[in-house]
Amino acid sequence: MHVRISENHTLRKDDIFYQPNQIEKYLTRAKNVLELGPGQGANLGLLASKFPNIQFTGVDLYPSLARKNQRSNIKLIKQDYHDLSQFPDDSFDVIYAIETICHSATKDKLFDEIYRVMKKDGIFIMYDYYASKAFEKYNTVEQKIITLISKGCSAEILESTNCVTQKLKYAGFSKIKREDLTEKMLPDLKRLKRLASIVIHRKTFAKVVFKILPKTFLGNGVVAYVGYNAARNRVLLYAEHIYKK
Ligand SMILES: C[S@@+](CC[C@H](N)C(=O)[O-])C[C@H]1O[C@@H](n2cnc3c(N)ncnc32)[C@H](O)[C@@H]1O
Repeated sequence: MHVRISENHTLRKDDIFYQPNQIEKYLTRAKNVLELGPGQGANLGLLASKFPNIQFTGVDLYPSLARKNQRSNIKLIKQDYHDLSQFPDDSFDVIYAIETICHSATKDKLFDEIYRVMKKDGIFIMYDYYASKAFEKYNTVEQKIITLISKGCSAEILESTNCVTQKLKYAGFSKIKREDLTEKMLPDLKRLKRLASIVIHRKTFAKVVFKILPKTFLGNGVVAYVGYNAARNRVLLYAEHIYKK
């Protein structure tokens, strides 16, 4: 599940659709679309139902499609997306990735592969969390916060938007749009902080919850708890990258 993006500082139910709604704008002439790290496939299911003539492929380490997301034009592959060798050059019109590339410790190689499997003039769309600057430029407290959030996101360490943008450029992509959405995720992060606080502020309850639930829940809980203040103070960023081959 990805973060909700809100206009006018107010959280609305439909804000969960911000990312797929933006991606949709680039699908009108597409035939083959790849999602990296679709998780439970909510975005795949939504887009595949709106575009029945497009073949969608999802590559995830732990793919699963809830029944409501299952469509005949979706193919799910259980695999590390760093290995796209099964796809020939120029396979996809659009490739998108929501809150998953931050997990990659080898983004330069990954972007080379994404570029290779993308058709000429193909579009790569990415939504993700970033550090606002290089790790060594943060003060000690900020370094602790960004380390905590990175661990919570299962990322080695979150990279800065500038660093990732450079890597996209080196891979050969040219920019269509890059937007900082940090401000617009604050209403959702505030909601998540409130939810995380209900657990974290009750020590015994928190111990039990984090013991019985999967480890990722602890990571998500930590990000939810510290993410709001980190984003408000621009230690943590969220951005949209739309790039073209
Ligand atoms: C935070 S979830 C995002 C899910 C989905 N994109 C969404 O917006 O709801 C990250 C997903 O990326 C997948 N993932 C992380 N690293 C991966 C890798 N190296 N190869 C394939 N999938 C990966 C995880 O299994 C998980 O499903």
